Amino acid sequence: EAAEKGGYPHFMLKEINEQPAAITATVSPRVENGLPDLRIPELSDEVLRGIGTIHLVACGTAMHAGMVGKAAIEALARVPAEVDIASEFRYRNPILRPNDLVIIISQSGETSDTLAALKLAKSRGVPVLAIVNVVGSSIARAADHVLYTYAGPEIAVASTKAYTVQMCVLYLFAFRLALARGEQTEAEIRRLTAELLRASEVIKPRLADCEQIKYLASRFVNTQSCFFIGRGFDYSLSLEGSLKLKEISYVHSDAYAAGELKHGTISLITEGVPVIALATQKQVYEKTISNAKETKSRGAKVLLFTTKDAVVPEGVADYVVRLDDYDDLLMPLQLIVPLQLFAYYMAVLRGCDVDKPRNLAKSVTVE
Ligand code: AGP
Repeated sequence: EAAEKGGYPHFMLKEINEQPAAITATVSPRVENGLPDLRIPELSDEVLRGIGTIHLVACGTAMHAGMVGKAAIEALARVPAEVDIASEFRYRNPILRPNDLVIIISQSGETSDTLAALKLAKSRGVPVLAIVNVVGSSIARAADHVLYTYAGPEIAVASTKAYTVQMCVLYLFAFRLALARGEQTEAEIRRLTAELLRASEVIKPRLADCEQIKYLASRFVNTQSCFFIGRGFDYSLSLEGSLKLKEISYVHSDAYAAGELKHGTISLITEGVPVIALATQKQVYEKTISNAKETKSRGAKVLLFTTKDAVVPEGVADYVVRLDDYDDLLMPLQLIVPLQLFAYYMAVLRGCDVDKPRNLAKSVTVE
């Protein structure tokens, strides 16, 4: 097993560090002359132009990737997209129309609720595109079309590299859809595709920052409960950062859309309560900062993740982690790395079984 870990103490840390390679392996083969090419003849531009609503269905971390996909699809291609938890979708008699598209997302390709959601969509005559990591898995076999992620085997129960490449495939899909529907110029899609190709380089300094993140984890290690807040993409990343932390470090954590704090949660913010604020999106930066400040003025211990040049006013954060400049739309690919590392080091410092957290299985094949 030590050999399989390639010198890393845990599979999770190895897999976090494999993300640049996983991104390149997943994105490069799907770029042709600077433009995204899904390489699925049945999903031609003409077919993409006819899509009504897109339903993204998955569980856990894969569902969080779906949230990023929905935001990218709606922002770029202006096609309505919904995200469903597979175990909800399968029992809620969803409204599906023949020109809709269901996108099923799964690392293992064996998650039982996700497979059941796929079968439901097919029984209603709706085409299913699966984004799957494991070749030949049940979901890959049952779907009409497959876009594989090339993360390689993911052993740690906590999903890291699979999530990142799921987002990459969803970005490529959103780019192609936007181009096919004339919602973005070819020049803009070329620019975004080039930015996506650069993602593996963009995240390398974040991997190198691991000592800083380890130090920050040591400042929060004795916490009982914490909150993640953010808006837009930062909210989706709050959910994922929070799940990762709960899953492996056993620290209770909740993620909130920052604007929701006032609607209940802020009553839990008292002296010393950790708040992890994500503020990477220019459009809502001031709003999130003002939410972080509200928690700080109630005694919260605030850890802020923001961009290199963002102006952080006095009295907002105890600690600030800076990310490099990158397109706001693609920022989740960079932001997820320190969040994964934070969860990882919290778990290590708390003496948890990082790769095999209690009560959890790598793939949930029973309901
Ligand atoms: C995340 O760290 C998880 N362990 C879990 O949420 C996982 O993403 C979920 O069970 C879905 O698995 P799948 O991608 O294999 O379908």
